[in-house]
Amino acid sequence: MPATYHIEPETPRKADLPMAKREILVLPDARLRAIAEPIAKVDESIRKLAKDMLDTMYDAPGIGLAAPQIGEMKRIVVMDLAKEGETPDPIVMINPEILKYSEETVTTEEGCLSIPEIYYDVERPAEITVKYTDLDGKDVEREAKDRLAVCIQHELDHLDGVLYIDYLSRLKRDRVVKKFQKAEKLAKKAS
Ligand code: NI
Repeated sequence: MPATYHIEPETPRKADLPMAKREILVLPDARLRAIAEPIAKVDESIRKLAKDMLDTMYDAPGIGLAAPQIGEMKRIVVMDLAKEGETPDPIVMINPEILKYSEETVTTEEGCLSIPEIYYDVERPAEITVKYTDLDGKDVEREAKDRLAVCIQHELDHLDGVLYIDYLSRLKRDRVVKKFQKAEKLAKKAS
């Protein structure tokens, strides 16, 4: 048996699973507007879901993904804010909840895998405290600021059917929604 045989990630059998890329739902899919259900227990199915979500996010590529974006109405989000060339830093948050928001705000250009190729500035609290359960079922509380704080707020909004375009003026938001409604109609006609 070659020596390299044992060089495997933490979960040897699971590592044999092929990369599972899932379809990302796009506006105006109604599931993006629904409220996701709390996760009762962190079991193998949740760990598999987290892996699928990370695979899908990295493939897109994106820095964050919430379960409703792949049609799973569960309160789980994944993120990785490592820049290109840096070591990957996957974060998985189960049943996340923001406990504290700073008064200080930050304006960042946001985009969303479910609203492709569109970017707008959004103002949000610059610092937050978030609590969640991790993949080992442990409760975690952590502070985040700037990019990470913004990303967490954006992803957590998805669990309540909120999209970042909801923070834009009505005019801008309607323009985005109409664009995607039209694209959906054209796609239906073509199929
Ligand atoms: Ni998004």
